[in-house]
Amino acid sequence: MKRTDFHTHILPNIDDGAADVAESVCMLKKLAADGVDTVYLTPHYRADKQSYDNFISGREIAYNRLVSALETEQDMPTLVLGAEVRAFDELTDLSKDEWRGVSANNTILLELPYIPAPNMVAEHFLPLFSQIQGYGFNICLAHIERYIAYAEPDILREIISAAAYPAQLNCESLVANPIDKSRLFAEECLKDGVYGFLGTDSHNTHTRMPRFADTEKYIRRHFSDADFLSLMPR
Ligand SMILES: [Fe+2]
Repeated sequence: MKRTDFHTHILPNIDDGAADVAESVCMLKKLAADGVDTVYLTPHYRADKQSYDNFISGREIAYNRLVSALETEQDMPTLVLGAEVRAFDELTDLSKDEWRGVSANNTILLELPYIPAPNMVAEHFLPLFSQIQGYGFNICLAHIERYIAYAEPDILREIISAAAYPAQLNCESLVANPIDKSRLFAEECLKDGVYGFLGTDSHNTHTRMPRFADTEKYIRRHFSDADFLSLMPR
């Protein structure tokens, strides 16, 4: 079967992910060993910290370095270039073509900011969501379960409903954390069909390594095979 990791920081030396190309290759080998055949490369894009052009050119350089390093490797996953876009007001300046540049498969992986109530409410994000949707892109909210530390479940559910597209679940929310609020909310959302994508959100080979196979096992054992399959590409 096809397995996709929808969210990673594997590109070398571009954000707080892989420090160099050797670490990137190591992370990809772990994913290949976990049976993953498609890996989205989604470095952080923060419009408040970096210009769009700088982000795109830095990402291209990192991608080309990774692709050259993989020339001598066998059976590596297919790579898809994308981004994890942090939702800031500055983003509303992006043109349709620029949004396309940070999309993958017509979808924007959107990371909400880590802000407490009262700003963590659906109304705060509606203008941005409408702009993205108006340009014809889907909004996939990254690891929505992590925001339970910033907003009540009903507020998060309103934001999820405004995004109007399946969200992305982080592997580490289920298998790395102790049983905390974000894990419980992730499990609730999984049961309710909120998610359509699974991502390791892996950053390195030590503290945040890819844990895809552990997560697959966990979901199949504690939920169902169908729940795991619902997070894979259809
Ligand atoms: Fe991430």
